[in-house]
Amino acid sequence: MKSKITACFTELFATDPLVVFAPGRINLIGEHTDYQEGFVFPAAVHQGIWAGISKNGLEICRLYSLDFDQEFSFELDHLAPKKGHWATYVMGVCTLFKQTGYPVGGFDLVIGGNLPLGAGLSSSAALSVAVGMGISEVFGFAVPKKDLARYAQKAEQLFAGVNCGIMDPYASVFGQEGKAMLLDCRSQTHTYFPLVLGEYKLVLIHSKVSHSLAASAYNQRRAACEESVSILQVTYPELRSLRDLTPLDLPQVKSLLPAVLFPKAKHVISECSRVMEAAEALTRDDLVRVGQLLQASHQSLSQDFEVSCAELDFLAQEVTGMEGVLGARMMGGGFGGCLLGLVKASSWGFIQEKISVSYQKEFQLTPDFIEVAPGGGAQKI
Ligand code: GLA
Repeated sequence: MKSKITACFTELFATDPLVVFAPGRINLIGEHTDYQEGFVFPAAVHQGIWAGISKNGLEICRLYSLDFDQEFSFELDHLAPKKGHWATYVMGVCTLFKQTGYPVGGFDLVIGGNLPLGAGLSSSAALSVAVGMGISEVFGFAVPKKDLARYAQKAEQLFAGVNCGIMDPYASVFGQEGKAMLLDCRSQTHTYFPLVLGEYKLVLIHSKVSHSLAASAYNQRRAACEESVSILQVTYPELRSLRDLTPLDLPQVKSLLPAVLFPKAKHVISECSRVMEAAEALTRDDLVRVGQLLQASHQSLSQDFEVSCAELDFLAQEVTGMEGVLGARMMGGGFGGCLLGLVKASSWGFIQEKISVSYQKEFQLTPDFIEVAPGGGAQKI
């Protein structure tokens, strides 16, 4: 991909670019907990976004997307990121750099990638991280890595309208080959865990659906959690987020929250504890327990947090109990995208055959099967 980006860049702009790669991410467990300062357990993957970039000495930025075969240009003095266009993230990152005081000048940029679109592997976070790192490199800003993740998060919130947490860009920035990271979203610090899976592997089954209301439903879930925190603060004045509660607090939380809010809070509280348990299980090489926690996470996301959909629930149900499957759950924001499974490598072929047939029959859709392994974080290549 690097040579493809470089060749295209040279053809368009007659010079050699600096090339940066930023990966997508998977998340082992810990869904919809990051924006409540909770725990998540993501890993970067080998697939991602490549960006070729070079200063152009102008006041405009000229962009080209290989994947969309589209050009776009904008003036740095008239940044107007608009929802729904890939260039939004580039303009969004420029806006945030400029607001912070980095004197961004004109640049040329070619981007391309190999992340399956709509699969929930965080292509937008990878794009923003790649662009941020590329700008930082060519202008010599030496932007701290955590700030790159924060600008990417802000770009998504302000310009794409998703009030997302820090997980996706953080994983893209800090990924490490062969490792997942236990990330504490309050302190924004992480610990690496080698993912030693032996005869098992992590796989994704892409449902091929993405529901159009996903962004607003995501924001509503986040708002519901924030409302629960305000109500609970009357009784627990020191409470900052749902992350401060444990499953032992659930009876009390239930008595304080309206019936419509309680299941959402319960999900976040129980999911944080599942993340910690999964980390412990991994250190004991207890993959059976990890699989059970994945199952419990899916149930909670589907029934309590209500961010699954018929297609993902069907896939989860089909896969569960199949020979060689330790556990599976919907991954990411929900309402479509992928199911993540922990499966025996020798059973994977059979599972794909079975699922292709049953999913096609039920939804007239052909699922995609994607193999993923933990890879390194964003870097100049
Ligand atoms: C999306 C968001 C993340 C996180 C997940 C759900 O991927 O971008 O911040 O909230 O959903 O865990």
